[in-house]
Amino acid sequence: MGRRTGPAAVLGKALDSALMPRFQAPRGTRDLLPQERSVFIRLEEVARELATRYGYQPIETPLFEQAAVYERGVGEATDVVEKELFRVQAGRGDDERERWALRPEPTAGIVRAYVQHGMRTWSQPVRLSLTGPMFRYDRPQAGRYRQFWQFDVEAIGDAGPAIDAEIIELALAFFSAVGLRDVRLLLNSIGDRACRPAYIEELRGYFRAHVTGLPELERARLETNPLRLLDSKDEHMAALIAAAPTITDHLCAACRAHLDGVVAHLEALAIVPRLSPRLVRGLDYYTRTAFELYRPGAEGQQQALGGGGRYDGLAELLGGQPTPGIGFGIGLDRVVLALSEQDGAVPGEPWRPVVVVVGADPSDTIVRLRLASSLRGAGLDCVPDLSVRRLGKQLEGAARAGAHFAVICGDELDVGNVQLRDLQAGTQRQVAASDLARDLLRAQAQHRHGEEG
Ligand code: HAM
Repeated sequence: MGRRTGPAAVLGKALDSALMPRFQAPRGTRDLLPQERSVFIRLEEVARELATRYGYQPIETPLFEQAAVYERGVGEATDVVEKELFRVQAGRGDDERERWALRPEPTAGIVRAYVQHGMRTWSQPVRLSLTGPMFRYDRPQAGRYRQFWQFDVEAIGDAGPAIDAEIIELALAFFSAVGLRDVRLLLNSIGDRACRPAYIEELRGYFRAHVTGLPELERARLETNPLRLLDSKDEHMAALIAAAPTITDHLCAACRAHLDGVVAHLEALAIVPRLSPRLVRGLDYYTRTAFELYRPGAEGQQQALGGGGRYDGLAELLGGQPTPGIGFGIGLDRVVLALSEQDGAVPGEPWRPVVVVVGADPSDTIVRLRLASSLRGAGLDCVPDLSVRRLGKQLEGAARAGAHFAVICGDELDVGNVQLRDLQAGTQRQVAASDLARDLLRAQAQHRHGEEG
């Protein structure tokens, strides 16, 4: 077939592009463009520095696990497993070991790794930290995504209340280090194997007595997971929940002592928790300590900034020896949203180059590439304009990109000189190429200092 020319070609192209699918990031996910990605990187850096300071070592687990790790660990009757698990179809799929799911949260995978690698033989507790993406097939809305990022911390192998206080202090330290003010701590104990079953029965009895007033979803939960009714966001449930029996009135002596111990240790760190006897968490592995972190006014809504608690039975559920553990997860996407609400502006700065190398001879890209390479070698952040457009256009481009300096390579380079233009001050001077890196490094330091100040 001959190639289309003239109007037919134009029409053909228009038709082609109309028929092209317009690809978008999957619903509930989003692209982190450079400015937002830089904010995430800063949060990740704060997370890493804090975790290191508190002795929590980095760990990385796979982004997917055998689905059974979550089914058993997080719990079959939780929303996270029942509705939100991203199951991965691969292989033949009829082999139990080939039923995988993307990680909805990191704790089950980390405890699986603890058991698998015999970390019981390490010095206890094993303090670990992981920051990365999680996946939940959630109903997308602001602050609720299908791929989101968590800063997670776990201390495995210590049953005492002091470590609970350490973990909670670390969570709060993260918020102050990133500049988010006024984060509130809600604390509860949800009991253990000794005292929770009797409480759950009482709770079930209470809600059964009001079954006609229960929305359909809550009726189903009443049989499978009555604790979750306390977490219902259905407005018809609010009055019923407010009058429901609380776990804190049913704690056994050991759980009561643990909760008192956590509060005493927190107070010693000048942290005053708000006790919240109806706080429950969406994952089944929790025992005793449960906590959530909120911005004022948002308590009890779906938008917790972070949450965590104790999971003393989790290692056993995953085939290990009984091992206590506690941790938290902070949602970085929600922290970014909260920072922008607090400051009334999108956090972070758009990227701006410090130095752009431009050239009087548009076709001489070699000289610009080489000069930029040597400036970078000297430690400068530097970008060459590698287009073959006129010098004037190159300078315009550098100014539009927000560069502080333009280095102009012209004929004088033959005698070892270039022009250094300060695009912000609108000044220009000749500099010996041999002095250029030193001059620019000094200016870059001032430039950065100015940005921070
Ligand atoms: P979680 O409460 O399910 O706990 O999640 C922790 C945090 O992740 C939430 O407070 C929220 O900030 C964020 N998050 C959860 N789902 C979404 C979503 N769909 N979109 C955006 N952000 C979300 C856990 O995951 C436990 N593993 C925490 C833990 C660690 N417990 C003990 N150790």
